[in-house]
Amino acid sequence: MTLPDANQPAHRQSTERIRIFDTTLRDGEQSPGVALNHSQKLEIAHTLSRLGVDVIEAGFPIASPGDLEGVSRIAREVRGPVIAGLARANKADIEAAAKGVEAAEKPRIHTFIATSPIHMAKKLNLEPDAVVERAVMAVTLARSFVDDVEFSAEDATRSDWDFLARILGAAVEAGATTLNVPDTVGYTTPEEMRKLFAFLKEQLPAHIILSSHCHDDLGMAVANSIAAVEGGARQIECTINGIGERAGNASLEEIVMAFHTRKDFYGFETGIHTREIYRASRLISRLSGMPVQPNKAVVGDNAFAHESGIHQDGVLKARETYEIMNAELVGREAAVLVMGKHSGRAAFRKALTDLGYEDMPDDKVQYLFGRFKDLADRKGQIYSDDLRALVESRADVPQTFSLEGFQITSGMNMTPVAFVRLQTPDGPVDATAHGDGPVEAAYSAIAKITGLNPELESYRLQAVTKGDDALGEVSITARYGEKLLSGTGVATDVVEASARAWVRVMNMIVAGMGSERREGEMAPGRI
Ligand code: KIV
Ligand code: ZN
Repeated sequence: MTLPDANQPAHRQSTERIRIFDTTLRDGEQSPGVALNHSQKLEIAHTLSRLGVDVIEAGFPIASPGDLEGVSRIAREVRGPVIAGLARANKADIEAAAKGVEAAEKPRIHTFIATSPIHMAKKLNLEPDAVVERAVMAVTLARSFVDDVEFSAEDATRSDWDFLARILGAAVEAGATTLNVPDTVGYTTPEEMRKLFAFLKEQLPAHIILSSHCHDDLGMAVANSIAAVEGGARQIECTINGIGERAGNASLEEIVMAFHTRKDFYGFETGIHTREIYRASRLISRLSGMPVQPNKAVVGDNAFAHESGIHQDGVLKARETYEIMNAELVGREAAVLVMGKHSGRAAFRKALTDLGYEDMPDDKVQYLFGRFKDLADRKGQIYSDDLRALVESRADVPQTFSLEGFQITSGMNMTPVAFVRLQTPDGPVDATAHGDGPVEAAYSAIAKITGLNPELESYRLQAVTKGDDALGEVSITARYGEKLLSGTGVATDVVEASARAWVRVMNMIVAGMGSERREGEMAPGRI
């Protein structure tokens, strides 16, 4: 392939490895409205490990006892990547982070303090010398717990470059091994970022890993991260689907696929198993309740769809005419027909294995097989996306209640009435209720049966497969006392998907699950 511009660098001869530091569970979890419970965090961490990230930032342990426990569980149970806990530059934060990551195979404490004039004066109310002192104290304390310490200069891109070099140098002397230079407010540009990293690389010892952490306020987070690498960064902090504070963080899948697809140009590679990308994206979207926009690069619904006749014609003749990467490379198959209603259990398990769900316990396969049969009866042909949607809505919550059946009566000028039957520990129980709409009526009937009446905070419906008989996925967030719970339900019928999501929330309440963070409220110590 020829490069369009003679001023561009020549093709690279060798490749260098860029570390991927995933902060979906920390910066990503700071996205407004996202509240993940412990088992969801653990599931995400296992997925990230399987994806091949180098570092998982598992959370901000000082924020709440729940956050500390979330980080500790990941540290205990997830092997492979470095597990990092975030801490501001103070004793309590660092001690909490140390406790959070203590059981990790490869623990890291990530401590930070702001270095821009506006943050130092208005937020910290500290003189620059005092900020350097705090940074040195924090890194020194962190090093007393772990060997791997990362130091971040918050709002680095609006900081004075000489001061930045000074504080980063002091952090290295105190024992920091990775230095992160965040574009906290998404303000920088690719050219500026490349120059800043080249400048810092000159000032700092060669063995130190420089890291970028870019926010997307001006839509340049991915470009800025790549520019940082061109300037000398060898770690990139990013999130799946680009979720994160405000406009989000640099998106992992876009960075990874840019390096992969344009290896000829950049000459860098990552350790990411690209075929796991789509599954990770789907999981994060489902658990965070944040839909992926259809035209999102790499993981959006339309990223590999060709609509115009000219493009379709070209793709049929040779895919490379309009595709620079193929869907399989990121774990998305073109809608492959998998099975139908006559398929047996063995074929079903094989299809799950082919989709990457190898180690699923028998009872889960059994449960999914029942749901698959119901679906095949109604839908006929089952595609890989249908199967994936079924698996992703699987019962990882103890099934105190399960939906047995329902009937809705509604029409113009009629109040919708729902008849619902749930299987309960006391056997099947029926209830009838009305509501402003069919979903509300079904929810009231379920509340009557379970005796639980959480408050619905958000409701989102999304088609997860294509066609008239597409599967719909309903994601809801509900509040029960102090707890926030998220549930999803998948079905071809919208009311059924909604009812499944609601029943799941009921089961979570009974199992004592849910996050204690109140929406709109900053957890203590949240950044
Ligand atoms: O955006 C930022 O500056 C951060 C730091 C805590 C690394 O998230
Ligand atoms: Zn950030």
